[in-house]
Amino acid sequence: MTQETFPQLATRLAKVKESPTLAITKLASELRAAGKDILSLSAGEPDFPTPEHICEAAFAAVRAGETRYTAVDGTPALKAAVQEKFRRDNGLEFSNDAIIVSTGGKQVLYNALMASLSPGDEVVIIAPYWVSYSDMVLLAEGEPVFVETTAPDFYPRPEALEAAITPQTRWLIINNPSNPSGAFWSEDQQAALAQVLARHPQVSVLSDEIYEKMTYDGNRFVSFAKAAEKVSPEVRDRTLTVNGASKAYSMTGWRIGFAGGPRHLVRAMAKIQSQSTSNPSSVSQAAVLAALTLPEDFLAERNIAFKRRRDFVVAALNQIDGLECPTPGGAFYVYPSCAGLIGKTTPEGKTITSDADLAKYFLEAAEVAVVPGVAFGTSPYFRISYATSDEILHQACQRLSEAINKLT
Ligand SMILES: Cc1ncc(COP(=O)(O)O)c(C=O)c1O
Repeated sequence: MTQETFPQLATRLAKVKESPTLAITKLASELRAAGKDILSLSAGEPDFPTPEHICEAAFAAVRAGETRYTAVDGTPALKAAVQEKFRRDNGLEFSNDAIIVSTGGKQVLYNALMASLSPGDEVVIIAPYWVSYSDMVLLAEGEPVFVETTAPDFYPRPEALEAAITPQTRWLIINNPSNPSGAFWSEDQQAALAQVLARHPQVSVLSDEIYEKMTYDGNRFVSFAKAAEKVSPEVRDRTLTVNGASKAYSMTGWRIGFAGGPRHLVRAMAKIQSQSTSNPSSVSQAAVLAALTLPEDFLAERNIAFKRRRDFVVAALNQIDGLECPTPGGAFYVYPSCAGLIGKTTPEGKTITSDADLAKYFLEAAEVAVVPGVAFGTSPYFRISYATSDEILHQACQRLSEAINKLT
């Protein structure tokens, strides 16, 4: 046996595909290493720093010796702050043991799927979707079932959701506002989905609300569980509400996510966490305690910058022949359709047959990195993250426009 084949890998890994963005990321780093000035519009994180008062809380925690193991599912102080956050921001009531704090929203989702899926269980995912949902379902030995949506609101028709549900369906995963589309769903739109689920008691809802704080144009965010309450308190009670500090407070590296939901599920999630990673970082928990309990005025100013950038990018892309870009109501992504460019030819004589080809062309010809729609299960589109400086966005849109003009 060669080193490449030993030890043998788990069968469950066979279904998990390599990230389709990997090829683009690899090419981008090769080009960068070769001295090219690559502009990256592919980051999934705010470009703003973690606010000073949050960093100060972390320094204070280290000095106070908060450097040891904590309770597996979060310190009592942070869990109480999460409980209060859900009450204050979302109108949701959870008992203390129905709350968990984990190492990022990602671990919350992973714990939830590992705790609840058995082989053959199905999970309905709305496409376009955040890349990790489907692979996490596969790792947990479940079967992802996709419901496709289209621009501008990327909202599933309730009939399409109904048609995707079978007796094996265990979860519906939703993400509002959405990564990658930035789509924002209203309370009524969510209530209409809850109405469908009310007819299917075997289906619970995993509502990923990590972009909650980034909404524009007066859009008022309502948690899915709150929207569901109007039509079915049972659906509300079958919802796991997932959130975290990464996006709202520019804390991606601190790795704190949290959730509130059905008590027996949350306890099972804590059990998995206790045998895998134990508590999330004690220092990060102290920092997030400050984030959740101190004023968050900085968010309004940051959202003004995000909205300005969104408006610039949407207008710039819509001026380009072959692109159609809706104006998303939340998050920090735009997701233009590039259907008008499929079939075009590059100056080198290559035909653009997919959004992956187009992303590769953008990287080579414009030195701009975007993520192709294929990564999110919906083509032909691409995702631009506008969580970067105005200057980079101006330059990048100029370069994209020039590169697209060269297609014939
Ligand atoms: C939709 C969505 N959910 C969850 C996450 C996970 O974030 P974290 O693990 O940093 O909390 C991300 C991060 O990109 C995301 O975009």
